[in-house]
Order: sequence, then C-alpha cells, then structure tokens
Amino acid sequence: TWVGDGTGVSSVIDYGKSFRDISSLINNTFIRKDFAVSAGPGNSQQVIIKHCIMKVGYLTRLLIICRGDIHEGVNSFITKDLGKTFSTIAQNIFSFGYIGGFLFTSVMAKMGSPRVLYVSSDHGDSFNKALLPSASTEQFYSVLDGDEYMIFMHVDTPGEETYFGTVYTSDDRGILYSKSLERHLFGGEGKSDFTNITSLRGVYLTNVLDKDGLIRTVISFDRGGEWRLLTKPDNVDCGKGMNNCNLHIHGETSLYNGITPMLPLSDPAAIGLVIAHGSTGDSISSMRPDVYISRDGGYTWKRTLKGPHHYSILDSGGLIVAVESRRDQQVNSIKFSTDEGQCWKSYNFTDHPIFLAGLASEPGAKTMNISVWGYRPEDDDQPMWVAVTIDFQHLLTRECGDLDYVEWLAHSTGGGVSEANGCVLGYKETFRRLRSQSVCRNGRDYVVSRKHTPCQCTIHDYMCDYGYYRHENSSECVKETGLSDKPKESCENGEEVEPQTSGYQKIPSDKCEGGFTPKLPNARNCGNVSVAVISLYNNK
Ligand SMILES: *[C@@H]1O[C@H](CO)[C@@H](O)[C@H](O)[C@H]1NC(C)=O
Ligand SMILES: *[C@@H]1O[C@H](CO)[C@@H](O)[C@H](O)[C@H]1NC(C)=O
Ligand SMILES: *[C@@H]1O[C@H](CO)[C@@H](O)[C@H](O)[C@H]1NC(C)=O
Ligand SMILES: *[C@@H]1O[C@H](CO)[C@@H](O)[C@H](O)[C@H]1NC(C)=O
Ligand SMILES: *[C@@H]1O[C@H](CO)[C@@H](O)[C@H](O)[C@H]1NC(C)=O
Repeated sequence: TWVGDGTGVSSVIDYGKSFRDISSLINNTFIRKDFAVSAGPGNSQQVIIKHCIMKVGYLTRLLIICRGDIHEGVNSFITKDLGKTFSTIAQNIFSFGYIGGFLFTSVMAKMGSPRVLYVSSDHGDSFNKALLPSASTEQFYSVLDGDEYMIFMHVDTPGEETYFGTVYTSDDRGILYSKSLERHLFGGEGKSDFTNITSLRGVYLTNVLDKDGLIRTVISFDRGGEWRLLTKPDNVDCGKGMNNCNLHIHGETSLYNGITPMLPLSDPAAIGLVIAHGSTGDSISSMRPDVYISRDGGYTWKRTLKGPHHYSILDSGGLIVAVESRRDQQVNSIKFSTDEGQCWKSYNFTDHPIFLAGLASEPGAKTMNISVWGYRPEDDDQPMWVAVTIDFQHLLTRECGDLDYVEWLAHSTGGGVSEANGCVLGYKETFRRLRSQSVCRNGRDYVVSRKHTPCQCTIHDYMCDYGYYRHENSSECVKETGLSDKPKESCENGEEVEPQTSGYQKIPSDKCEGGFTPKLPNARNCGNVSVAVISLYNNK
C-alpha cells in the first residue's frame, strides 16, 4: 500500500526502491491478511495497520491503530461524542459508523424490539431518527456510500438470507430516505458491488438479483435517480440467439470469490475513465472475465483486454498499465496504453518471471511510477518476494501542450435522464481533457479544469418527500399507503398533526434553476390557525 504524501519519500518506501522492516514498531504482532495496511485520511502521512480484532462492549472490530494521530481521534470520538449520546438514547447499540458527513448508530430499545437507526449530521452533537419508508424490525442495514450531501443506504428485504434488499438515497440531513433501487444484491459475506465511479459526477454502478435468479449490472448517471442496464460494448458479440445482451460488471462479490483480481477502477483525476472486469450476455457470468474500459463515465464501453488483469491509472489517465493475472503462471511483462485502452504495448520488466501479487502506485493517479510485486519460488521452497518499480517517465517524454487537449461535455453521450444535454443534479460540466491519441505527459502539476453551467429544473431534480414514492416508469411522486411510522408536527397549540407536503423535495446539492416547481399544498388546519406549509423537510 502506498502511504506517502506525494513527495515520494515516506517512512516505508521511496517509490518502492528500498524497503525497511518495521515489524518491531508494531510489536511483531500478526497483521490481517486482507486490506491490512492502508493510508490515513488526507495527506496525513499516517499508516493504519489492522492487526487484530478486539471486542469492546457492543462495538466489534475496533481498529487498532499503530503510530499516527488517528489513535487519539478515534478514541476521544468514541468516548466523548458517542458516549454522551448513547447514555441518552439507549444501551443496546447494535453498531455505529461514520461515512461522509454522517454518523450513524443503530439502536435496539429493548431486546427483541425493532432496531432503529439514528443519524447525526453535526458530528454527534444531535441524533435524529432516520425515516425509512419500510417497516424496520430485524432488518439489516448497510450504508453503501456517502459524502457531505447524502448517503446511499441498503436495507435488506425481510426473510432468511434473501441476499437482496432496497437501496435508498437520503436528504442532506441523512434522515429522509427515498427508494432508489430494488432487488439490490448484497452477498452473504456482507459484500456489495455498489461502486462510486469517481471519474464522473453522479455515476454509480451495482448489481441486482433479478426475480429470475440472475445477477445483472445496473448503472445510474444521476446519483441513484434512475438505474439502467449497461450498453453492450461495440467490439463484443454475444452470440446467436441471445435476446438480451448487456455488459455486466464484477464488483466486490467477485473479488471475494476469487473470480476477479481487482475492483472496478476510476479516479477523479482521469475524467470519464473507468476500467473494470466484466462479461457480456443476459446476466453476469463467473466464467473467465475480460477487462472493459469506458471513456465517458460508463455510457459506452469497449473490451480492452482478454482475461483477468491487474490494472492501474497513471499520469491522470494519460497512461494505463495492466499485468495479466494468472494463478498458475509466472509473468514478466507489463502492458501499457497511452490512448485509453485502444492499443496496448508490452514491456518485459524482468528476466526472472514472478507470480503476481499486485500493483502499487501513489494514489491520485498523478505518478508515472508503478510497482509490480509478487514472488518467485526459490530452491529452498521459501518464496522470494520481489517488487519491481517501473518509471514510465522515460516513455512519455513530451509535455502535453494546448493542442493535446479537447473540451468535453460530461454526460452527453447517452440518453436517459439527462437526455444527452449533460445536465446532472442541476448543472452541466465541461472538462478540458487529453485527446486520446495524444502521446504526451500530463505531468504531476496537471489539474482537471472544468466549467459549470446551471440547468433548468425538471421533475428529476426532485426526490419524493417522506410518505411518497415513484411508481415504476413514472416520475411523479405519489402518496404511499399504510405507513407505520408517520412523522408528526406540532401546532402552536401543542396539537400534533400530519405534516403537509407537495410530495417533492429538491435533491441535496442539486443546483438547477427555474423550470419545474412542485405544487405547494394549499394550507393546513392547525386548530383554528391556518398555516401555509412550504415543505416540512426542505429546510433550505
Ligand atoms: C508495544 O508494546 C509496548 C510494551 O508492552 C507498548 O508500550 C507499546 O504501546 C506497544 N506498541 C504498539 C504499537 O502496540
Ligand atoms: C463519489 O466520488 C466522488 C469523487 O471522488 C466524490 O466527490 C463523491 O462524494 C462520492 N460520492 C459518494 C456518495 O460517496
Ligand atoms: C518478453 O518476454 C516474452 C516471454 O518471456 C518473450 O517471448 C519475448 O521475446 C520477450 N520480449 C523481448 C522484447 O524481450
Ligand atoms: C518516479 O520516481 C522517481 C524516483 O524514483 C521520481 O523522481 C519521479 O518524480 C517519479 N515520477 C512521478 C511522475 O511521480
Ligand atoms: C415499465 O416499463 C417496462 C419497459 O418499458 C415494462 O416492461 C414494464 O411493464 C413497465 N412497468 C409498469 C408498471 O408499467
């Protein structure tokens, strides 16, 4: 794992040229096998090493953190903010988590009673009960992803080991949820294929377990508003008699099951670029997957390499490298492409082939150094671990000039919600990006340059308010019947009434202007006082 801060020098590695044994610093304890070493948040030069599992009260899987300031942070966080809140809510904390700008606790008031989810968007100072539309007894929740504006939440469908559930998206307080995707796959081992495509705003992909028992990949270009199947890559045939032919992407479930060696890859510095393992057909297949690439954030795809590979994005997308992943065979060559995967060349990086373990590079995709690591069996049966660092600076020697870049309107390739006009969450973005044919170096100092233009509001810039939902194929929010958990609002005279709402509220962080405005309800009867209500939940 890369733990440097961009200077190329850290306590552990200098671009992979030399290594030091630091086991004694963590008292030579055992280190977990998977994802054990990671960099701390930000450019903090912190290293997090997970080396055992500890049980403290109801909180399991505490990280033991060695070296760095996080230790204190995590501790005071638990004992200070959470401690205060736990004592007032309840004792039976099921779990807690922190993602994006939100802190969660899942609470069971009494043994065997329904589990309730509380959310804080102010770092634990106050917690509010999450309003999830479905009944919420013994259901399993999982926060899939989140940022400062909203969260994606998976709620399992009741029943024994259903392996699927519903994805909800939240408002900007993490309290109000609206249905985003049904039959969302959530594997047995707590693995979800939910993937944030970080190279294009608003794009997420994941897998669903359809009624026919088959797993299919769906993608959303508007942060969970609508989901659809991926288009078939132009350069792949599905074979005769195949009615439905789409691309399906392998996520964490396949990684866990050893079907693919890597997760889908994208980087905010490499605009539009997505690399992933996939298969084409009616549904996902566990047969040997190939590597697919998209240049437009997932609207269109191409098969770029046959068979599973490890891959990495370098020089802000100007360079992609890949090494074939074979369990049974040693490798000595690395493939590289300077045109976003249209053509690949090969370079033999060693005379003594290795069994590949992985690739490592500085996060942020700015570097041109890549380390290939793995092992060679030695005579005495002890594997010899090797890391080879390749500096591609010698390949791309020319600095890119103005002519190497083009203007590109994001979200203009496909149909769907944005109808090819590029509007997503209320605005369009035009990027300056490298022409794919240009063979030149973006360099370390390259910054993504973008222009914003606001869009007119449409119904898709609104989510349904609590108690409302969108019927299949319809964008209108209609009232849900039989809700068990109705919010109440107090009148000035203390009387509790059901709040009135237009049924819509603007999606968090949506920047649209003018256009569609939901009809406001007339007025509500609050004792003798008539009060006009704009929207209960729209606090902007
Ligand atoms: C290693 O052990 C020593 C002595 O028991 C202890 O003081 C120190 O905190 C330990 N270090 C880590 C990183 O756990
Ligand atoms: C998805 O990735 C983008 C780019 O890194 C980030 O800005 C955004 O917050 C992420 N979204 C979520 C919901 O985590
Ligand atoms: C690279 O390695 C392969 C496989 O070992 C070999 O067939 C090929 O000739 C090598 N290429 C060069 C340029 O040395
Ligand atoms: C690659 O590594 C070398 C040190 O070996 C360093 O001087 C150079 O800046 C690195 N290149 C990039 C683009 O990070
Ligand atoms: C929604 O549209 C799809 C495809 O056009 C169709 O198969 C399905 O029956 C529609 N569902 C409803 C409830 O109208």
